[in-house]
Amino acid sequence: MTLESSPDLSAAPEKGAPSRSAEPRVPPVAAGGVPGLGHGWKLARDPLGFLSGLRDDGEVVRLKLGPKTVYAITSPALTGALALSTDFKIGGPLWESLESLLGKQGVATTNGPLHQRQRRAIQPAFRLDAIPAYGPIMAQEAHDLVERWRSGATVDVMEESFRVAVRVAARCLMRGSYMDERSERICAALATLFSGMYQRMVIPLGPLYRLPIPANREFNRALADLHLLVDEIIAARRASSQKPDDLLSALLKAKDENGEPIGEQEIHDQVVAIVTAGSETVGSMVMSLLQVLADHPEQTDKIHEEVKTVVGERPVSFGDVRKLPHTANVIVETMRLRPAVWILTRRAVTDTVLGEYRIPAGADVVYSPYAIQRDPRSYAEHNEFDPDRWLPERAKDVPKYAMTPFGVGNRKCPGDHFSMAELTLITAAIAFAYRFEQAPGSDDRPRIGITLRPRRLLLKALPR
Ligand code: HEM
Repeated sequence: MTLESSPDLSAAPEKGAPSRSAEPRVPPVAAGGVPGLGHGWKLARDPLGFLSGLRDDGEVVRLKLGPKTVYAITSPALTGALALSTDFKIGGPLWESLESLLGKQGVATTNGPLHQRQRRAIQPAFRLDAIPAYGPIMAQEAHDLVERWRSGATVDVMEESFRVAVRVAARCLMRGSYMDERSERICAALATLFSGMYQRMVIPLGPLYRLPIPANREFNRALADLHLLVDEIIAARRASSQKPDDLLSALLKAKDENGEPIGEQEIHDQVVAIVTAGSETVGSMVMSLLQVLADHPEQTDKIHEEVKTVVGERPVSFGDVRKLPHTANVIVETMRLRPAVWILTRRAVTDTVLGEYRIPAGADVVYSPYAIQRDPRSYAEHNEFDPDRWLPERAKDVPKYAMTPFGVGNRKCPGDHFSMAELTLITAAIAFAYRFEQAPGSDDRPRIGITLRPRRLLLKALPR
């Protein structure tokens, strides 16, 4: 497995421009635009297909979205250069809508020195040596999932996947006995928020979302519940004598640039941003993994055999994670073909260049991990599900930045090790106990929202 390693936040950031001799060029306009509408209709109709096809038009191409020009990056090398450059930041209307819902001081949307300080503050909760302490909670939640499916009833995969993802994130990062019931309430709030958030980000209708119709009321109530719950959890931790090494402790200890404790609002926004980011992504990946297990029973059997050899009949535990390479390769291959984060955006803060191309200050830039990770120039049989391509002797041939489901650089996902441990424990536990078949009514076509996942996956869990 060759996911890029965690960023060294102390390292000097690189600039966006690889050395060049000629004058930078204006990137070509992507093919297929329609006068007046540009490429917007194509992007809306089939975003994955459209973004994947752009590689045929160039390494950097211009898209016309109504009156706006957006720059799309299509090569692994330049997505790496973009992510490592200091000439780009997080920004633009999508991020502003997210901030208005989740808060302005969360690490996922801040920039510059504040972002750097926030990353340093949360890092202790995500370091490789912090993860074993979360192991028992992750293993227990994986085990509970297996037990819940014993009844033989059809599994609604979306509900179950998001539930386990939220419970693991909430219980690991804010450890305490007060979390069990509150995790369920966070699950309920986030389930409603995840279904309405993408619409609010891409179609910012402002006041219309405040009209007192049932859907808006439900969304706004869920949002208010989430914020209230986070305040309750922070207050409960302050009142408790127990201070486990977790995200909440790291935030309560964090200092600002003047050496003062960080403010209440920042602690709150950080918890909301991190639990939300860690739940929607992991939930989507668990769904995609279950689809893979149903579609490739031979892989499910192979995982079963691996777990049986390494673990025997006892429940899988954190100590087993590193001894299950095939299970990990199935997860990585699933992330390659169905990355939870299918599109990433940045905004240029200054006139700059990427490769041979000029990017003007203020321009919005996009790239798609989905398109990059299915590029036939990087992967033989690029659309085939082949976990063995991550065996060390084959993985070494994958070009740099051609596999970055967690991103690269100073914005790289802090939850990468956390997620791999969690997904390995879940996948090992469920594939050990069951084989899977899709049930009538299941719709496994991709659903494109903030994350990528199957639309409505219904499975039969067939005990071994
Ligand atoms: C399979 C699971 C996950 C995937 C695929 C994933 C992927 C990503 C990606 C692609 C980014 C953005 C990188 C960029 O903008 O260049 C990101 C950022 C982030 N992720 Fe994850 N993530 C996952 C799980 C988690 C978990 C478990 C947590 C925490 C509990 C988490 C917390 C965050 C945060 C806070 C950010 C913002 C970081 C920043 O802007 O500095 N993620 N993630």
